[in-house]
Amino acid sequence: MTGPARIALPRVDRQLIRGVYCPPARLTQWRLEQLVGHDNVRYFSFGRHALAAALRIAGVKAGDTVLLPEFICREVLAALHAVEATPGYYPVGPDLTPGYDSTRLPAAKAVLAVDYFGFPQDLTVFARYCARTGAALIEDNAHGLFSRDAEGRALGARGDLGIFSLRKTLPAPDGAALAVNNPKFVPALAPQLAPDAAPAPLSFRIKYGLRRLVPVAGSAPARFATTCVRWARRVGSGHSVPPSSPNAEQRMPAHAAPSQMLFDVMAHTDVAAECARRRLLYERVGEMLDPSRCPPLFNALPEHVVPYGYPFRADAYAAAAAARVLQEFALDCFRWPELPDAVAPTAPAHYTSVWMASFLW
Ligand SMILES: Cc1ncc(COP(=O)(O)O)c(C=O)c1O
Repeated sequence: MTGPARIALPRVDRQLIRGVYCPPARLTQWRLEQLVGHDNVRYFSFGRHALAAALRIAGVKAGDTVLLPEFICREVLAALHAVEATPGYYPVGPDLTPGYDSTRLPAAKAVLAVDYFGFPQDLTVFARYCARTGAALIEDNAHGLFSRDAEGRALGARGDLGIFSLRKTLPAPDGAALAVNNPKFVPALAPQLAPDAAPAPLSFRIKYGLRRLVPVAGSAPARFATTCVRWARRVGSGHSVPPSSPNAEQRMPAHAAPSQMLFDVMAHTDVAAECARRRLLYERVGEMLDPSRCPPLFNALPEHVVPYGYPFRADAYAAAAAARVLQEFALDCFRWPELPDAVAPTAPAHYTSVWMASFLW
């Protein structure tokens, strides 16, 4: 067997991919509030803290059930654990839409709908469930900060409550947000936590410096640094991409407050340029990978979608070959997600064959 067929990229495209590491230097004063269309937004360090806040606002108490998809990363469970909620899982099909009849689901205080990889989830079935049971709809848009659905509605602004993991899209040391979209929940919204002014971790500052080097020095220093870090990790722990910790389903990240640097990065974000970059990179990665071995998870890139990365299906061999191709452009590739302990042992193949080329280093 050979790896995925390589397609030589024209020079202009190589330049574009290098642009991955070049945060726009102009001050744009961009704010998430513009995207969701209201000011009922609070910032956090991690999406898990935003989700825990959403659950509290939705009135979730110890012992209440919260429904979430089986296809989810296990870290998310820490937010349920923080409010002592009981997870109830619903399956999703290979197209990542809910594979269940909503009328047969148990009553729950809240239900989580996930916009996987920045592609909009159809919320119709969730809205019907919530109308019947009174559950709060939490739209988990951790992945697709700048994405909109076919009607142009911002993802994360469509449920009663929406969460974002800003750090997955923006080159910031941390960052997440909660949008309270349903006015009935606004009185329960706590004040904004004071941003943490401590300097960003050294590893982040090194990465930040390397990103800025790319326009002048090309992607070689970034590639070299990635290779060194991977090598050191493999030697130290046996894994080049660290697996989630055994207690990730229970333990929340330490600080809930966002870093001051998140706001600096947001204020310098050229949203139009970042959207264009991600969409073009999605097309280019699609051209680099062999669709017969690494078929894309989604058949098309809809007009308003700004993808988290390039998700595709692959067996371990095809994924390793794809990773080698992507590495030439300093693009990381990893399997997503690490499933919850309650799901992993009986997970169907369509939960365990998803990989993603990341667009943020
Ligand atoms: C779908 C989804 N929701 C929420 C989260 C939590 O975000 P964070 O890692 O910023 O806590 C993640 C990632 O862990 C995620 O993939």
